[in-house]
Amino acid sequence: MTTRCLVTGAGGQVGLDLIRVLRARGFDVHGSDIAPRPGPAQLDDDVPWHSLDVTDADAVESLFSKVRPHRVFHLAAILSARGEEVPQRTYHVNQTGTVNVLETCRKLEVERVIFTSTIAVFGPGLPELVPDDVPLQPTTMYGVTKVAGEMLGDYYWRRFGLDFRAVRFPGLISASLPGGGTSDYALFMYTDGVRLGHYEAFCRADTRIPLMYMPDGIRALVELSEAPRGSLRRSTYNIAAFSPTAEQIAASVSTAIPGVKITFAPDAHRQAILDSWPRVLDDDNARQDWGWQPEFTLDQMTEALVPKIRALIEQNPELFERDH
Ligand code: SER
Repeated sequence: MTTRCLVTGAGGQVGLDLIRVLRARGFDVHGSDIAPRPGPAQLDDDVPWHSLDVTDADAVESLFSKVRPHRVFHLAAILSARGEEVPQRTYHVNQTGTVNVLETCRKLEVERVIFTSTIAVFGPGLPELVPDDVPLQPTTMYGVTKVAGEMLGDYYWRRFGLDFRAVRFPGLISASLPGGGTSDYALFMYTDGVRLGHYEAFCRADTRIPLMYMPDGIRALVELSEAPRGSLRRSTYNIAAFSPTAEQIAASVSTAIPGVKITFAPDAHRQAILDSWPRVLDDDNARQDWGWQPEFTLDQMTEALVPKIRALIEQNPELFERDH
């Protein structure tokens, strides 16, 4: 029987790429989001798409009962920067939404739930290399709700046997619109670099956080979802790829976009969030338990990404325009 996967928040930065990869592996994939169905350039016509507000418990249960997924990839969330503009709504979407998804999966005996956590679960006072288990002291509502999501998922696993698995993503970079994250300065160097030839980053040049190219992030989700449960010693795993300073990203961008001018004008609020996050993640447990390994280095990402962004901007010059 074909494995059926349901993705929540499927219209976001991770979801559309994840759907493509899951389909290429032969799964029957359903997308759901509060946002309307993306156009045919982004999503194949034959992917079933469902309108879903994850804060509505009845709607979650009704959709999941209809689709009957074997695996749920729960991505629906409001990210850190956007989340600080609307913290109450962020609590509702990220926290209530996650409880609703877990509770429905428990009731319907869904085989596996895969959850996307984040470097934003961490807070100030971290060691240089951050392992999975340190005190979690997030400073953003996004981080607070993701810590709770990790813990709830682990509780559902221990208490009810719901097979819950999560990765803590670094800042993800891809040739698509980002969704209101604080790590977006890294992508804007590429998109504004291609569009305008310059970008003023909202962080200091020495800012350093873990980053990852999207194809590695998607592969991590798929590989974790397929690992034998018996090999997993925990529910949530750090995963890492590279940790350049903002200045090093700028230098890499300038190898692919000659003459690009990247400057730095830190925004106090966003800088404080970035300074509270890990500089480098220790992903040893993921490597040991399910063989995690990143493929892309910063420069390999730059080489792959810039032509993709150029092509997208040629097709749609307004695509990466924004007012900040
Ligand atoms: N990219 C995310 C953010 O900046 C981090 O998980 O909010």
